Amino acid sequence: MKVLIIGDVVGKPGRVILNEYLDRKSAEYDFVIVNGENAAGGFGLTEKIAEVFFDMGVDMITTGNHVWDKKEMYEYLQKTDKVIRPLNYPKGVPGIGYTILQAGNGEKVAVVNLLGRVFMPQVDCPFQRFDEILEEVSKETRNIIVDFHAEASSEKMAMGWYLDGKVSLVFGTHTHIQTSDSRILHKGTGYITDIGMTGAHDGIIGMTVGSVLPKFLTGLPSRFEVCEDNIRLNGLEIELDTDGTCMSVERIDVSMEEMDFM
Ligand SMILES: [Fe+2]
Ligand SMILES: [Fe+2]
Repeated sequence: MKVLIIGDVVGKPGRVILNEYLDRKSAEYDFVIVNGENAAGGFGLTEKIAEVFFDMGVDMITTGNHVWDKKEMYEYLQKTDKVIRPLNYPKGVPGIGYTILQAGNGEKVAVVNLLGRVFMPQVDCPFQRFDEILEEVSKETRNIIVDFHAEASSEKMAMGWYLDGKVSLVFGTHTHIQTSDSRILHKGTGYITDIGMTGAHDGIIGMTVGSVLPKFLTGLPSRFEVCEDNIRLNGLEIELDTDGTCMSVERIDVSMEEMDFM
């Protein structure tokens, strides 16, 4: 099974290039996952944008710490199984932390969202909360894909090795910078520290330099604006064997112009 995973889509520039890419390529994949936590103006997601993504050929959406930015999400997360929030928020928080859906080839795929704890909101232990669901999920499918939304590379690598042989793929999100360490770990789990960002790359993690830099120079709060320069799509393409083992991982980092030559 071939799966496409797209890194944090930031605002309109991200949504536009995602549409262009899926227009050309979605037929090649059995399942498409998008991290949508920054899709609405850089902060959060809305039901309307999620539905637009599904119309483009996206199968499900993972999120992260920004999932709560738009208040309507509290309600939307309770009525959909195609948008998930990190599993390790304390019990009782709206939404679900994993979902099991059917891919284009008829196989089931489980997608789990976890949140790191280093420089992140203080949530439950992602390792322990994952362990609580593994048995139940494994009964349904061997295809298990984990979006570990975290800041620290060390914490992400720890999760990769912890889940090696238990899941098909651990991919990192949240830093918006694609790392060059995509690989297959010893027991057959695909891994990458961060799949990167789908949006404008001539800014600061998707926002304009002019709106972010003053915050660092003065320490005062500033209003971030979505950047529109040098738009690129970042993600990962993987191939899974029938037993859920990862056979290949390939990074994607492409501009709108480069797409015309694909
Ligand atoms: Fe993000
Ligand atoms: Fe994030």
